[in-house]
Amino acid sequence: MTATLYRNAYIVTPIGGDSPLAGPDQGRVATYEKGALLCENGIIVAVGDESSVLPKADEMDVDMEVDCEGTCMIPGFVDPHTHICFAKRREKEFSMRLAGTPYLEILKAGGGILSSVRSVQEATEEQLFDTTLENVLSALNFGTTTMEIKSGYGLTTEAELKMLSVIDRIARETPLDVVPTFMGAHAVPMEYKDNPDRFVDILINEMLPAVKSQGIAAYCDVFCEEGVFSVEQSKRILEAAKTQGFLLRIHADEVHDTGGAGLAAELNTVSAEHLLAANEDNLRAMAAKGVMADVLPATAYSLKKPYAPVRKMIELGVPVALATDCNPGSCFTESMPFIFGLGVMNMNMTIEEALVATTLNPAWSLGLQDKVGSLEVGKQADFLLLDGETPAILAYHAGVSPVVEVYKKGVYVA
Ligand code: NIG
Ligand code: FE
Repeated sequence: MTATLYRNAYIVTPIGGDSPLAGPDQGRVATYEKGALLCENGIIVAVGDESSVLPKADEMDVDMEVDCEGTCMIPGFVDPHTHICFAKRREKEFSMRLAGTPYLEILKAGGGILSSVRSVQEATEEQLFDTTLENVLSALNFGTTTMEIKSGYGLTTEAELKMLSVIDRIARETPLDVVPTFMGAHAVPMEYKDNPDRFVDILINEMLPAVKSQGIAAYCDVFCEEGVFSVEQSKRILEAAKTQGFLLRIHADEVHDTGGAGLAAELNTVSAEHLLAANEDNLRAMAAKGVMADVLPATAYSLKKPYAPVRKMIELGVPVALATDCNPGSCFTESMPFIFGLGVMNMNMTIEEALVATTLNPAWSLGLQDKVGSLEVGKQADFLLLDGETPAILAYHAGVSPVVEVYKKGVYVA
């Protein structure tokens, strides 16, 4: 038994309940101005004002006491949408986009996602592990203690399984909680360009069963977009995935409003991601089903697109989570403080709403709401100490990371 007491911290944490926080509750947090957190074997046993926590600490055998000197403590960030497992960066493509070539045009010409597919197929498992590890450890330094990672740069059964086994190794060999997602439906390979339904058949009949028997991925995701997978194709894939026991996510309405958000509501997926171009009727349908909006503001930033209508989502009662979308193409950042800042400054979220959207709501989006995402008794002691007095520092001190210390299950990890 090892018990540690962190005291004299300005603690701000979402307060959980039976469902993700939405509408007026999107910013539901508790603040303990002179707060303390007591954890034993990595699990929080008391948290709150010092006056309530210190007596509990006195009853226990505390091995270590840390004075946080009034700095701000928040839960570790939960990043619910990444493509951080890749082999090579695509910096030249970024310059092409700046010069005016649209993102989907690059893909159509065999670049974009398909260029990452080539480099991932060529990489050995060891090489892919090394590049992924570097990015994941950087994210950990920025305060991400739980992360979803998608496959989808393999696009053959063999290469998709290779990606998922790399992601599994990241889960086992780093301090983070990692949630693997199978995203074989990320792009249509060039050889199926004229017959994409044949690729959909392969996804359903070969890849999904192979991924299921590998036993690593719990979720299945599809890129529903003009020129990628249509709503009908996405529906076929997701329905098959559901039948085979996967939980569902969907890239919906990232560039065009194809009705992906409506499909998310119809299939009751766990989350719909992007939603830059989603229409109000479909957002309403998502709210009615409680589908989480995983909003990716750095993708709007990098693609120079209008930001997702987060205020509208909150007004309609759609629960909102924020994610990096870290990938080498549309959005290369692993920094949740940057995402937090964009949420506040460019999507007009309050500090409290952005905090919920980067911690507890994404935990719900990954099915980990009982373990991570808030500083509450019984949960893992995953927390950050910031170089600031309140969480506002995350938006206020722009372009830098105010995350000074990262703790996972009560242990200092970065
Ligand atoms: O979420 N939109 C599809 N997937 C990623 C981009 C992947 C890439 O460009 O490599 C996204 O934006
Ligand atoms: Fe994505």
